[in-house]
This record gives sequence, C-alpha cells and structure tokens, in this order.
Amino acid sequence: MKKYQRLAQQLIEQIDLGVWQPGDRLPSLREQVVSSGMSFMTVSHAYQMLESQGRIVARPQSGYYVAPRAVSKKPAPPARVISDESVDINTCIFEVLQASREPSVLPFASAFPDPHLFPLRQLNRSLAQVSKTASAMSVIENLPPGNRELRHAIARRYALQGIPVSPDDIVITAGALEALNLSLQAVTEPGDWVIVENPCFYGALQALERLRLKALAVASDVKDGIDLDALAQALATWPVKACWLMTNSQNPLGFTLSAEKKARLVALLAAHNVVLIEDDVYSELYFGREKPLPAKAWDRTDMTLHCSSFSKCLVPGFRIGWVAAGKHARRIQQLQLMSTLSSSSPMQLALVDYLSTRRYDAHLRRLRRQLAERKQLAWQAMLRYFPSEVKIHHNDSGYFLWLELPAHLDASELSERALAHHISIAPGKMFSTSGAWRPFFRFNTSWGWGEKEDSAVHTLGDLIRQMLK
Ligand SMILES: Cc1ncc(COP(=O)(O)O)c(C=O)c1O
Repeated sequence: MKKYQRLAQQLIEQIDLGVWQPGDRLPSLREQVVSSGMSFMTVSHAYQMLESQGRIVARPQSGYYVAPRAVSKKPAPPARVISDESVDINTCIFEVLQASREPSVLPFASAFPDPHLFPLRQLNRSLAQVSKTASAMSVIENLPPGNRELRHAIARRYALQGIPVSPDDIVITAGALEALNLSLQAVTEPGDWVIVENPCFYGALQALERLRLKALAVASDVKDGIDLDALAQALATWPVKACWLMTNSQNPLGFTLSAEKKARLVALLAAHNVVLIEDDVYSELYFGREKPLPAKAWDRTDMTLHCSSFSKCLVPGFRIGWVAAGKHARRIQQLQLMSTLSSSSPMQLALVDYLSTRRYDAHLRRLRRQLAERKQLAWQAMLRYFPSEVKIHHNDSGYFLWLELPAHLDASELSERALAHHISIAPGKMFSTSGAWRPFFRFNTSWGWGEKEDSAVHTLGDLIRQMLK
C-alpha cells in the first residue's frame, strides 16, 4: 500500500470509529503534515482520494469536512477490539477536569471522593507526631522501595486476603498513578501494543500517549466487564506486551469481575506471556460482605503488577500508593530513581503512624456505609428528575454511576450546558479513543446530599429534556 493510501485508510477507520463525525472539520493539510510526518503531496493526495470517494468534502477557504453519513439500514455491530496506533486524548481530559475544578462548580465529574469522608483530624495528629519525632536519617531510609514499616503493613493486608506478597516486592509510589505509569514503562518499549478496556480510566490512555504506546481497546460491558473472547482475539492477532485493566469497581463502568472471570483472565494472559497491570484503587470500596480478590490472587507465574493507593479510601493529598511488582520491583525502583526519586517521606511516616492506631478498618467500614447511602440518594434523585429515556447503570461498589442518554444525544454537549449552571459531569469521550461513548457520562455520587445537589440533578434532568426536544 502506498503512503497516501495508508493515510486515507487511517482516516476512513477514524471516521468509521466516530473519531471524526459527519460535519467535523478534519485537520488541515498543514496540520496533517506535521502530525503524520508525511509530505504535503502525500497528504493532499490522500485527501483528494477521500474526496473522490465521497467520504469528505472540501469547503473553499475553510478546509476539509467529514461528509454526511449515507443512510444505512443496518447499523454496524460495535467493534469488540479497536486498534489505535497513536493515542491522543490528554487535551480533552485536561479541559474537562480544569473546567470542573472551579470552587463554584458542583464536582460530579471529579474522580475523588468527598474529602469530608476522610479522618482528617486523626491524619493531622499523625502528621504532627511525625514532625516531632522524625529523624534526619528518615529521609534517606524512605528512598525506593519506600518505608519498610509501610511496606510491611501493606503486605499484611495482602496476607489477610490469602495473597502471598513479600514486603520486598512492594514499591511505594506517589499515588497509584505513578505505580501504574512506572509498571507500564517497566514492561514496554515505545511502539508496543498494550491492551486497555473500552471504556477505561483516562489515566491509562494518557499513559499510553505519554509513552508512545499503541492501544488495543477491548470492549467492556457495564455488568460483566471485559469481553474475554475479544481479549483472546486481540492476543492472538497482535504482539501484545501488556494489559492494563481494572477488575474491581471499574472506572467508569463500576462492575466487579466475577472470581471465575478473574481466573480466566489471568490464565489467558499467562498463556500469551502478557503482563497484567492491575489497577485496583477502589478495592476497599465494595458494598458486600467480603472484599473481592484482585486478579493477582490467581497469578502463579509472577505476571501481575498489582497497583493501588490510599487516595480513594483514606487520603488523596498524601499521594501514597504502591505496586506489588514481584520480579519487576527492581526495574520499577530504577525508573522511580530517574523520575520522582521517591514519594514524600513525611507522608509515608504519617501513614505508618496512622495505620499503627488500628483505626483504619473502622474508618473503612464507615466510609463504605456512607458511600452506599449517598449513591442510593443520588440514584433516587436521578429517578425523580431524569427523563425515562436516560438509563442509569447501577452498581454495588465505589461512588460512580454510569448514565446512558438516548443514542442521538452527546454527553459532551450536556457537560457544556451543565457547566454554564456550575455543574460538572464526566462525558463518555474522556474514557475512550473511539466515539462510541458519546451518549454516556460518569457521575460522582460521593458528595453529601443536600438541597444544592438535589437541585443540580433537577437542572441536569431539565437540560436533558431540552436536548431531547
Ligand atoms: C481508576 C483509577 N486509577 C488510578 C487513579 C490514580 O490514583 P492516585 O490518586 O492514587 O494516583 C485514579 C484516580 O482518579 C483512578 O480513578
């Protein structure tokens, strides 16, 4: 295939995937030259070819636009695996998150739980204690892999679930995000293929973009989670290096994979010698009786890097996370030395102090109960105020609800209209490189439910009704 044909093919795939919708302006010839690295002649040849096929139209003085869609009788089935050679999502995520950080905005788009749910007084007491007792040497003692006592405390929590993790295999990081990013970097080279879920936590897409990795987005279902048949197909077709996914309280969909599915997932990846990077930041926020196991519990071949943190269940601002990295622990420490050096020493020491008070589990029990109650209240308000065309996908963990508007509506438009009323939501396009999730949005239900929140849901309902007209 010639270069211009390859570019034309890529653009057709992007249009079919919904990256570019009918009426969208395509990158100009000049922009395409810069982003593709191809010559002006090649790019303009590709655009002319698409124009002659009726896929795009040229508008004088304005540029090239995606042609209106021909009416097809039967919609194509949704792709179960979507390949994406270059991920470009950071700008969109940054814009949504920035807009929702205004203090006057109700942060239903936020990924963090309401900070009032955390034991701030006790944590402050631990910090004060550390400031009195920390020695000069403690700064050095807490370099990678991180504070020894903290690693032991984390290893004991794995042991309570019957998962053998040595404190020596744990690396303390600046939140789960650093754990995940370092894990991905440790097992890939730029240009490698990595499996993610579709939809997935946007941090995974940003990491792929930053490390110049290629994405294979495997379909995930709101109830059952990742499609293992599609995963098997992706593993059989592409030379995959790693798979980054969530097995408990997935962000944004909220499902927890069944034990049977976790076991099959681990077996499937092991058969293809593919590393699993397991993002388990919401593992403490289950609503049932027992804490669900991570997929790592089924791993017998040291192929799973299990990443988590205290950010969602105790204190986001300390920025303390970890990875149970097994044989990759050494490489991860080397990468950490080259980037952030270590996570903050006083914060590690304060956590050790807090955990030694043995109040953590009582706090977690209270937190889970409050989150479940608040999710229920948000759900009831949505039932009251949202038109019946909106589907609310309920789940029994964490603090997100996944909402589905009628297929012809765009949640990004709802997000823009809602922001004008000082309400933020997280539109579906943040969680995927394909356009398939446009009618969906994620809603954070962790905030204390009062008049303001109730009236905001009422306003959202009214805005959806206006869009439906
Ligand atoms: C699914 C998921 N993974 C990882 C992170 C990052 O966690 P941390 O704040 O511990 O870095 C987040 C934060 O929003 C998240 O939602």
